[in-house]
Amino acid sequence: MKIVRSPGAMQRLAMEWRRSGRRVGFVPTMGFLHEGHVSLMHVARRRVGPNGIVVVSIYVNPTQFAPTEDLSRYPRDFARDRELCSEAGVDVIFAPLDGDMYAGREQGLYSTYVVEEQLGQGMEGASRPTHFRGVTTVVAKLFNVVLPDVAVFGAKDWQQAAVIRRMVKDLNFPLRMVVAPTRREKDGLAMSSRNTYLGPDERKQATVLIRSIRQVRSRVGAAGKGGLPAVDLKREVAGLVATAPAARLDYVEFFDPEALRPVEQVRKGGHMALAVFVGKTRLIDNGRI
Ligand code: PAF
Repeated sequence: MKIVRSPGAMQRLAMEWRRSGRRVGFVPTMGFLHEGHVSLMHVARRRVGPNGIVVVSIYVNPTQFAPTEDLSRYPRDFARDRELCSEAGVDVIFAPLDGDMYAGREQGLYSTYVVEEQLGQGMEGASRPTHFRGVTTVVAKLFNVVLPDVAVFGAKDWQQAAVIRRMVKDLNFPLRMVVAPTRREKDGLAMSSRNTYLGPDERKQATVLIRSIRQVRSRVGAAGKGGLPAVDLKREVAGLVATAPAARLDYVEFFDPEALRPVEQVRKGGHMALAVFVGKTRLIDNGRI
């Protein structure tokens, strides 16, 4: 397994693979890898086959964090990440440094960003206004450097996946995007690098996200064809979240899963997403109703 630091070296390697007809599967990450990431690596491998190349990027992207967020304390463990990638059969880790990825930014000499103007407006975009601009910018840059045939993202970040899918289509990136299912702990908590911030009691209370999704699913299932008003379900979710003393609901939204348009009446087949602070840790989850 190779570790590549420089975007130029990565791009030269990717161009060689292209010339020799090798397919490239790509999993972009911010590191501190867990089973969820490993499952994305396996999906990438299946997509490109044994002769293809699997690249994982490990880069905590500063432009998707607001100044008040957890950039400096975001968990990092490169040695462990390297081990997990190697066990998963990854061929190359691309782990650039800030100074190389955004050359000139510190000196005010970086000024190009990619903005998706529709799907990223609500939910995460409303709570974290500069977040998706950072995500689309870094993912576009990573695509230009790694030149993947297939890029694999996790469904836990449902809105992120929708925004990136739109960017891929709108900007004609020549790649196929795959969204793989969310991996969960035994008690249903969605796997996330941020789960490590949780203290033992917070960790127990964090199941309120999946419990909210399950409760809505069962209420809507029981309601039959007509479904239930979103406004009532939002009130119920807020009530359930309030039963966990360390938890504070940031948002809960019901929407159609493709266009992410909010719906007033929630029916089977719809989708919900929520963000909850558990202590100081902000967690997100989503699920089909
Ligand atoms: O989902 C993530 O880990 C990040 O948002 C991504 C896609 C790697 C961009 O930094």
